[in-house]
Amino acid sequence: MLAAADPFKTDSLKYIETELERSGYAVVHDFFDATDSALLAAECRALHDAGELRPAAVGRGDARSEQAHIRGDHTRWFDPSALAPAQSTYWTRMQALRIHLNRTLLLGLDDLEAQYALYPAGTRYARHRDRFRDDDARILSSVLYLNAHWCDDEGGALRLYLGVAERNPHVDIYPESGTLLLFLSVEFDHEVLPASRERLSIAGWFRRCA
Ligand code: OGA
Ligand code: MN
Repeated sequence: MLAAADPFKTDSLKYIETELERSGYAVVHDFFDATDSALLAAECRALHDAGELRPAAVGRGDARSEQAHIRGDHTRWFDPSALAPAQSTYWTRMQALRIHLNRTLLLGLDDLEAQYALYPAGTRYARHRDRFRDDDARILSSVLYLNAHWCDDEGGALRLYLGVAERNPHVDIYPESGTLLLFLSVEFDHEVLPASRERLSIAGWFRRCA
């Protein structure tokens, strides 16, 4: 049983478990309510306005480089020892989700890393997978979207490919505020399609330590 103070609706946890087990991904609308999503969006925007977001890089270590044609977002990592107020809400809930998924699906998720991401209008993130070649720590990818009143014709979908070949089917998830996408990091190619307006999100990865 969940404690009364648990921020989750029991049915959304059950839904996540069922969908992850069945298909390896889950899309949960209204995982965060409009107020919490708006606070997170405001914080992301304030950081951006203060010049605290940086153009994202592709790869890491010696292979790290900025390549806006591959990836056009601006990001900032959360620092778990210095979380701003809205970030704390996010962090607490995602940790509760991590513990719940460990208990129910035995995923063995040890920790979480998360970053704000802001895609200026017209930018994209080309098809990729969320694991580095030399590191298999990322088990479960998550994206929480922070854009109130998104219209699908504004673009900006996360396109999740349901198989490895170029022509495999896909699902498009639109970045409406409060929607949480979860998927197994090793299994799914995905890309961010360009949008006609700015697009805010928090990308989080649940990791397993070696
Ligand atoms: C990523 C990513 C998807 C999104 O940051 O690796 O794929 O919808 N983000 O923002
Ligand atoms: Mn990704």
